[in-house]
Amino acid sequence: MSEIPKYAVMGNPVSHSKSPLIHSLFAKQSGIELEYRAIHVNEGSFDSAVRQFREIGGKGLNVTVPFKLEAWQLADRRSTRAELAGAVNTLKFLDSGKIYGDNTDGAGMIQDITGNLGQTLKDARVLVVGAGGAVRGVLGPLLEAEPAIVHVANRTAAKAHELTAVFSAFGPCTASGLDGIGSVSYDLVINGTAASLQGVVPDLPVDIFAEGALAYDMMYGNEPTAFLGWAENHGASLCSDGLGMLVEQAAESFEVWHGVRPSTAAVIQQLRRMALS
Ligand code: ATR
Repeated sequence: MSEIPKYAVMGNPVSHSKSPLIHSLFAKQSGIELEYRAIHVNEGSFDSAVRQFREIGGKGLNVTVPFKLEAWQLADRRSTRAELAGAVNTLKFLDSGKIYGDNTDGAGMIQDITGNLGQTLKDARVLVVGAGGAVRGVLGPLLEAEPAIVHVANRTAAKAHELTAVFSAFGPCTASGLDGIGSVSYDLVINGTAASLQGVVPDLPVDIFAEGALAYDMMYGNEPTAFLGWAENHGASLCSDGLGMLVEQAAESFEVWHGVRPSTAAVIQQLRRMALS
């Protein structure tokens, strides 16, 4: 009897991860047999946790906070998008014994915004708030969608400038502190800061939303984030949290491992229903 292939998400914290549920729904839908669980890893133990997981027959991993950089370092070979992101959220253990690293976060966000939310990124004016690892992970795929401009604004302006120094080779992007946004309006405003975790809104000008604008928070929770509540009161036409992004990045990882991209709509709906119940 052949063993059921093992997959997992490693992180800290990880107990609330929705990835095991998402991947089991994808597996059912695709008729692929697999086991997927959440593994809590202590800081400093990532490499040994990955080694142990491979020893028991692990085929692939999702990697979340705070190990995406260590996963990048562990990979023998990386996709271009992972190389650019400087972080890896998907590891695949190849038959050759090598480890392949990918980053599906940016592609997941773009698929959510364009596919699920029906927005056009080509020629759009985009404001990205934040300049941490989460933002770095999505800038490459965002610029690939050929927006008119991506302006990166961060509380600490220097970090925004560091990012645009790297990414301006891939498309038009500018940087400033939050106080340097000025009175310019945007078609899409993405909150990529950790402020939502603290329940606060970054200190933004009130006139940033152009007519028909989408406010997008990369975070999600059972309630709308503070940023989305603020956006709704300040002229955003459409507001979305990052639940769709979570499911879409999982679908991309699923494809890296299994070669098929599952459909996501029913899975997103099911997660929304569970959040409401
Ligand atoms: P992540 O990997 O989730 O991006 P990170 O690398 O620690 O986490 O980055 C956190 C981001 O949220 C940073 O852009 C941070 O701004 P600073 O660079 O100025 O620290 C931003 N951030 C966190 N709390 C914030 C707040 N209350 N208001 C505005 N920005 C905030």
